[in-house]
Amino acid sequence: MTKTWLITGTSSGFGKELATIVAQNPATNLVAAARHLEDLAYLDQFDSSRIAKVVVDVTNEGQIQQAVQVAQQRFETIDVLVNNAGLGYFSTIEESDMDQVRYMFDVNVIGLANMTKAVLPTMRAQRAGVIINLSSALALTTLPTMGFYSATKYAVEGYSDTLRQEVADLGIQVMTVEPSGARTNWSGRSSQKVAPQIEDYAAFSDSITTVSGSVTQAPGNPQRIAQVMFDQANETSVPSHLPLGEFAYQGGLGNLQGLVDEIKSHEGLSLSTDD
Ligand SMILES: NC(=O)c1ccc[n+]([C@@H]2O[C@H](COP(=O)([O-])OP(=O)(O)OC[C@H]3O[C@@H](n4cnc5c(N)ncnc54)[C@H](OP(=O)(O)O)[C@@H]3O)[C@@H](O)[C@H]2O)c1
Repeated sequence: MTKTWLITGTSSGFGKELATIVAQNPATNLVAAARHLEDLAYLDQFDSSRIAKVVVDVTNEGQIQQAVQVAQQRFETIDVLVNNAGLGYFSTIEESDMDQVRYMFDVNVIGLANMTKAVLPTMRAQRAGVIINLSSALALTTLPTMGFYSATKYAVEGYSDTLRQEVADLGIQVMTVEPSGARTNWSGRSSQKVAPQIEDYAAFSDSITTVSGSVTQAPGNPQRIAQVMFDQANETSVPSHLPLGEFAYQGGLGNLQGLVDEIKSHEGLSLSTDD
């Protein structure tokens, strides 16, 4: 059966790599969503009968609805939704601009949730579907200056863990992907950066420079990451969580093990509050 993929943020990075893989595969249809259609010219080399380009800013609910309608009218089913569109934000917590933080939550969390809400009726009717939510290694562990970005991705994790339970019996699977730093535009043009001005936080200037420099130096290969997502979505049983890269795997496991150890060390206290 030909599967239809709907992917947000296909203008660059993981979204573009994944859209390219889907567009090349004769057994898949692609609904490629981007804020600007001219960014999707790279798809013109592929079979246009299996590709629909749609304008979607994930903060625009009307555009989300239109994209779902286009998918249904052109291809009838929506089998895989990839909530990929996302922004970064580099700043200490205290020095963060809350309007910029709120906008990042609108894109990374509310946009993802609105996109999912629009697709779920189709997947429920099909009694089948896979939802892939782009989370981050920074939802498994944290770094100074990445606090509000981590907060959006921890929100994606909590949301996805709950949704997974609610739709499991309806044939719908939910996977969060937690990539380590990868060579995309994310830490470049997709991230606001606020250098510390408060002397007490001066030591964190370097971490902003180092992490944002990862646009060219990070070990993560976007093409390989996209291929892993594509392959896993085609498995009968998709992983619930998929850390990718050493930082996500080792850093994530180390942080989670530390959390388990800490929680266990307070066992008596934790269990003392129930009647
Ligand atoms: N690269 C990494 O190191 C890394 C690691 C872990 C997780 N992630 C996550 O991976 C996802 C993809 O990022 P990337 O690394 O591929 O970065 P990227 O190359 O900068 O791509 C980000 C994509 O999101 C789109 N976007 C931004 N705001 C949008 C909005 N309001 N509505 C719709 N699309 C919007 C961008 O579109 P425009 O071209 O129009 O701006 C672009 O297509 C993000 O969720 C990011 O948080 C990245």
